[in-house]
Amino acid sequence: MTPPAVVTGWGTALPPTVVTNHDLEQRLDTSDTWIVERTGIRERHVGGTVAGLATEAAAAALERAGTRPQDVDMLLLATTTPDETVPHTSSVVHHRLGLSGGAMDVNAACAGFVYALVTAFGSLAVGARRVLVVGAECLSRITDWDDRGTAVLFADGAAAVLLEATGGADPLHGGPGLLGYDLGADGSAHDLLVCPHGGTMSMDGREVFRRAVRVTVDSATAALCRAKVPVEDVALFVPHQANLRIIEAAGSRLGIPAERTAVVLDRTGNTSAASIPLALCDALAGSRVGDGDIVLLSGFGAGMSWASAVVRWAS
Ligand code: UT7
Repeated sequence: MTPPAVVTGWGTALPPTVVTNHDLEQRLDTSDTWIVERTGIRERHVGGTVAGLATEAAAAALERAGTRPQDVDMLLLATTTPDETVPHTSSVVHHRLGLSGGAMDVNAACAGFVYALVTAFGSLAVGARRVLVVGAECLSRITDWDDRGTAVLFADGAAAVLLEATGGADPLHGGPGLLGYDLGADGSAHDLLVCPHGGTMSMDGREVFRRAVRVTVDSATAALCRAKVPVEDVALFVPHQANLRIIEAAGSRLGIPAERTAVVLDRTGNTSAASIPLALCDALAGSRVGDGDIVLLSGFGAGMSWASAVVRWAS
């Protein structure tokens, strides 16, 4: 059981350079029509560094919360693309923001943000009061820009939430916080999406697609079941933003309609660990989440790894 907790601040960062599908048409054997029909992506942002984007997003979250950096107990940075192998990028973000407490990177690919969020709730359970959870990626650095199978998909960005312990009822008795979660991995499929040191990503897109729908549905269902929340009660579904067809297929199998699903990938592409918080923050910016709402977050990706969390919202 984790203590009652609320998200008191959130923020995003996208690098200023926008690459449209029409830009990609100029250098690849592809078309805007193919990319939109097969993925739902129209444009994406590229550039920056993970530390820079994460710092910008986290600073915005702290400002929105009105929280001083020295009052943060832990920074969890979900990223697959750390700026350097050593040190962990979260230590740089920690320094730039002037944070107190611990800092660690979490690498669980596109499931990384939900892994970090569940870990953040666990940190509150062992005494932390405020945990910054950030998802940030510079996938453009490990993308083969001559491979049309991946270059049209991946992009850069970051988003952050500040999770704070609060008083009152615990989540299982009507209070805000984590109601249930599901984490998993299947390393026997690790070769479906790989990037060697110094190289670029290669992916068996068709097989990843097939597994993605199944894994999202199974993991989300397991988390809802543990939370004892019927799917009809989900006010907002925040899935990993890899492909609109995956999101629609998973939503339809779960029984969650498009109007209760957060989608940003048309504007952001697939930003791996940043994709779920970017979609969540977009929904928050649109006032789509209110106090007491049930939010279901579900990610999957390389590994294969997956993670789902059911949260009763309050701000
Ligand atoms: O976040 C990590 C997890 N990653 C994912 O979830 C990605 C999952 N996979 C996907 O989203 C999709 O599989 C892709 C978007 C990568 C590919 O879409 P698809 O509908 O599965 O296409 P496909 O791989 O089955 O290829 C269909 C055709 C092929 O041509 P032929 O063999 O039918 O002549 C491809 O060569 O489309 C071709 N193709 C393209 N054509 C135009 C592949 N990429 C492109 C492209 N532009 N960019």
